[in-house]
Amino acid sequence: MHASVLVAYGTKNGSTAGIAEAVADVLNKAGVTAEALPAATVPDVKPYGAVVIGGALYAGHWQRDARRFLGRHRRALAGRPVWLFSSGPLDASASERDIPPVPGVRRAMIRLDARGHTTFGGCLGEDAEGRLARSIVRGGKGGDFRDFAAIEAWAAGIADELLGLRNAAGAV
Ligand SMILES: Cc1cc2nc3c(=O)[nH]c(=O)nc-3n(C[C@H](O)[C@H](O)[C@H](O)COP(=O)(O)O)c2cc1C
Repeated sequence: MHASVLVAYGTKNGSTAGIAEAVADVLNKAGVTAEALPAATVPDVKPYGAVVIGGALYAGHWQRDARRFLGRHRRALAGRPVWLFSSGPLDASASERDIPPVPGVRRAMIRLDARGHTTFGGCLGEDAEGRLARSIVRGGKGGDFRDFAAIEAWAAGIADELLGLRNAAGAV
């Protein structure tokens, strides 16, 4: 049996959880067992064979749970295939072009020798936490910009890579 894949996410308003769950669904359908969990609830990544970590962007940084996850599991992550994703832009930009990681995430990518990173559009609704969030929504700049076709395509690429790694290891 193969070790499963963890899709850990850091969210404040919940929309990054939806992305992580979509990624895990695609992996499961491709035959790669995966589970999406809030980053703060994961005690240990050692049982997992690979890890996908997603963070919602707030003021140019990943949400705190995702950042702490990187720090807490630094050593175990360095020995596993790792992919990162960010979710944030409240417009169509992430569907139109590649948005590079913010500096903190770029440093993590280098440190972990991550296999990839992508930025997905974000989502901000009327029930968002915080005065600033609500004023963004009131100002007409909220909405759901998550591109599930792009999310699924990205996850399918990860499934292909993981299945390729398994085949290369001769453990089909
Ligand atoms: C106060 C605030 C700051 C934000 N800062 C950024 C940012 O720096 N970059 C970005 O792309 N999106 C930014 N966003 C958009 C959020 O990343 C987006 O709404 C995201 O989908 C939230 O994810 P969550 O629902 O998982 O918390 C910000 C939103 C708020 C409310």
